[in-house]
Amino acid sequence: MSNRGNFSSRLGFILAAAGSAVGLGNIWRFPYLAGQNGGAAFLLIYLICVFMLCFPVMIGEIAIGRKVQSDAYGSYQKLGGGKWGYLGLFGILAGIFILSFYNVVAGWAFGYFLEISFGNLLDEKDFGAFFGSYINNVWTILSFSLGFMVITAVIVSQGIQKGIEAANKIMMPALYLILIGLIIYSLTLPNAMEGVKFYLVPNLSNITLQTLFDGLRQAFFSLSLGMGCLITYGSYVGKNQNIVSSAAIITMADTSVAFLAGLMVFPMVAAINAYDVQGPSLVFVVLAQVFHNMGPMAGRIVGGSFFLLLCFAALTSTISLLEVPAAYLVDQKKLPRKPVVWGLALLIFVLGLPCLVSQGKVEFLSHLFFYKDRDFLTFVSDMCDISLTVGGCLMCIFIRYRWKINNMNEELAIGNPTYLGSMLQKYINITILWVCPILLGILSIGVIIDKFFGLEWIFG
Ligand code: TRP
Repeated sequence: MSNRGNFSSRLGFILAAAGSAVGLGNIWRFPYLAGQNGGAAFLLIYLICVFMLCFPVMIGEIAIGRKVQSDAYGSYQKLGGGKWGYLGLFGILAGIFILSFYNVVAGWAFGYFLEISFGNLLDEKDFGAFFGSYINNVWTILSFSLGFMVITAVIVSQGIQKGIEAANKIMMPALYLILIGLIIYSLTLPNAMEGVKFYLVPNLSNITLQTLFDGLRQAFFSLSLGMGCLITYGSYVGKNQNIVSSAAIITMADTSVAFLAGLMVFPMVAAINAYDVQGPSLVFVVLAQVFHNMGPMAGRIVGGSFFLLLCFAALTSTISLLEVPAAYLVDQKKLPRKPVVWGLALLIFVLGLPCLVSQGKVEFLSHLFFYKDRDFLTFVSDMCDISLTVGGCLMCIFIRYRWKINNMNEELAIGNPTYLGSMLQKYINITILWVCPILLGILSIGVIIDKFFGLEWIFG
């Protein structure tokens, strides 16, 4: 047991878990989802999902991991027996697929960071067209994605304290500093307040079932929930630590970065009146254009900082995604960490290749006939999102019927002597026993119907 590794301190764990949570999901995906779903209306739904459905699931995951001190599979297996281990395996598989497409997008970000820093985009006129053709330079993106995976593997192969914890202790503070700097700049742009208004004044008529589905998926993805990532990180946490307050800090850190990312992006959207740029290209098109307009020197510095921020955020997340299957192979198959990490990294990189060429290069993968003509990267990402809310739902069912809520409470009380009998305990119990399993079950089915058939299918 003792040679599995562990976080050296509470801060180490919190930074690593927050690093896992804060990622492309916050800076790349949250702003464009908010843009598509009516700005503040989305933010509101998102916050409700985070506090009602995600926070309790996070506590449950960390508790399971710390109780058993094993990987996602081993934790469910030892605690539940029978077939429960499969729930862990399901999560590990989901993690492998998440990393496979995530690493491709990280490759885009890494590419933009280098191109902008070296001043290669100075003569660009139309960043919309540029982005479309850039991500189809297969060999370029391939090498950046590969580079990103190699950096991830180098860190994870160093183990928990020397690798994961050390990397997060440098990158997370740097990330916050860059983000704050960029927001200050963004707020000084012409029309900034118009962008802020778009982002922060809720238009409740914009809230639809779609907003709810998108908000929920995004919240689970952003907090790294539902696939055993926090079971794995939780297994490296000491028994004297307060899980509930750590989870609260991690949740706040992640939510604040998503919120701040919106505050950085929308003034820039307003400054160049680019409200019509929607979807995954948002930060790559709008922000690149704004940096370009700043002139060569300033553009390189500020633009370089932004894409460095994006790379840091992505890297602390890819680390956590690679650790989940690595921990499984190290714990269960007793394999040595280094070869396991490098083998997995290679495998997952190769698994991501269809996503890499699905942005226009390979026709069939760019327009899936069975998925409403959408591309393969979107397909994988949507399927993973679904598996997260399903995984979260099943975790609640596991706690309710198998591990039992009292055992969870006992684990949570270790390191938190006032927990038992508190209001918070009652809230967490009600959500884990009733609210989460029921709502997550219903909403997951809704998302599946939405994705494959469209909501018209339900409502005619
Ligand atoms: N949360 C990260 C982001 O927002 C991505 C991520 C890392 C993740 N680990 C995960 C998502 C585990 C789901 C499950 O970018």
